[in-house]
Amino acid sequence: MSKITVPKVKRLKGKRPITALTAYDFMFARILDRAGIDIILVGDSVGTTVQGLDSTLPVNMEEMLYHVKIVKRGVKNALLVGDMPFLSYQTSESDAIRNAGLLLKAGAEAVKLEGGERVAHLVEKLVVSGIPVMGHIGLTPQSVNVFGGYKIQGKTKNKAERIINDAVALQEAGVFSIVLEGMPEEIAKEITETVQVPTIGIGAGRYCDGQILVITDILGMDPDFTPRFVKKYRNLYEDIGNAVKEYISDVENGRFPAEDNVFHLKKENE
Ligand code: KIV
Repeated sequence: MSKITVPKVKRLKGKRPITALTAYDFMFARILDRAGIDIILVGDSVGTTVQGLDSTLPVNMEEMLYHVKIVKRGVKNALLVGDMPFLSYQTSESDAIRNAGLLLKAGAEAVKLEGGERVAHLVEKLVVSGIPVMGHIGLTPQSVNVFGGYKIQGKTKNKAERIINDAVALQEAGVFSIVLEGMPEEIAKEITETVQVPTIGIGAGRYCDGQILVITDILGMDPDFTPRFVKKYRNLYEDIGNAVKEYISDVENGRFPAEDNVFHLKKENE
């Protein structure tokens, strides 16, 4: 497995599907990296998955920098992308450059930010500053209050056209890839066929150049979150719960620690 870089991700379009997952700490990052994932995103979904928030809006730069730093220690081959949290780039071009630069200093090799035409000018500034940018359009969670909930976007012809224009604007601004989230697969297909940069889908159907999901979702760690677009490969909520119950029972019944788990005094002649 060789190192995945930004140019390599671009070259993968049309060659083979690109794989991406989120990670928020060293242990998970190392597992994903060694398993051969192409892209690891330290998503602002850290807010909902790790911090127990009900949206990504409160996540701040300090928290993102911490998670990028600890994920970086587990990553050798995957491309490491750091998410720009709400209000870290919308306020001004200089805020965007400074905060994206801090994510790179913390170990990210690229940043991701949400929005299409309205953020294209920011993307341009970042790219000329030497910061690779992954776009993110469609159901962008930082705009949950504008959408009135986590709703599939682009269902009507007009709205679909706006999303396609967003993708083209991001491409012109210099993104190296675009996350397409929560949209009909017909729109994602059209975008994928229209732009030259790879599209990475989440809830955007089968015709994207790659797929991304949240690690805790594919591992089934949240019994209350079972959206249609997620495939649960394991039920770790149950597995971990059962392991903890076994541990409790072993301790309560004197089965742990056992002889194998204890240390003894040195014998006189040792
Ligand atoms: O924050 C995140 O994890 C994301 C992905 C789901 C694309 O933005």
